[in-house]
Amino acid sequence: IAFEIIIVILFVVAQISQSGVLILSEEEKRTLISEGYPIPSKLPLTKQEEKNLKKIRRKIKNKISAQESRRKKKEYLEALEKRVEAYNHENNDLKKKVESLENNNRSLLGQLQKLQSLVSKMPKAASATQTSTALMVSTDVVMSLSLW
Ligand SMILES: *[C@@H]1O[C@H](CO)[C@@H](O)[C@H](O)[C@H]1NC(C)=O
Repeated sequence: IAFEIIIVILFVVAQISQSGVLILSEEEKRTLISEGYPIPSKLPLTKQEEKNLKKIRRKIKNKISAQESRRKKKEYLEALEKRVEAYNHENNDLKKKVESLENNNRSLLGQLQKLQSLVSKMPKAASATQTSTALMVSTDVVMSLSLW
């Protein structure tokens, strides 16, 4: 039965092409008209009709690939814009972080200077224990500075 169906389909297809029904897509019809060519309705096509049809099919193909490349370009630009936006955001965050670190740095350096001047003013008698304590404190400050 399947074989018979195929035969029937082949027969119908042969009939259609012999009866001269040419099936054109809407886009093909539109392009033929806009290019000033008549729409062929019968098969076989004349040489000129074949030439025209080939020309407008190539034109349609070019149009589609131009659309596609515009779409890809737009997509690419949009992705790029998103990345720029994300980098701007990150940059702002980093600037804030740097500012905060610089403030901490200044504050810690100030504290260190105070401690150093305290140490330098210490009486010599007390220096043995107090100096080492103060030095340990200032070492802590320097270490926390370098950790920052
Ligand atoms: C902290 O200050 C020191 C000394 O001025 C400097 O070398 C360092 O780069 C500063 N660090 C920050 C995060 O500001």
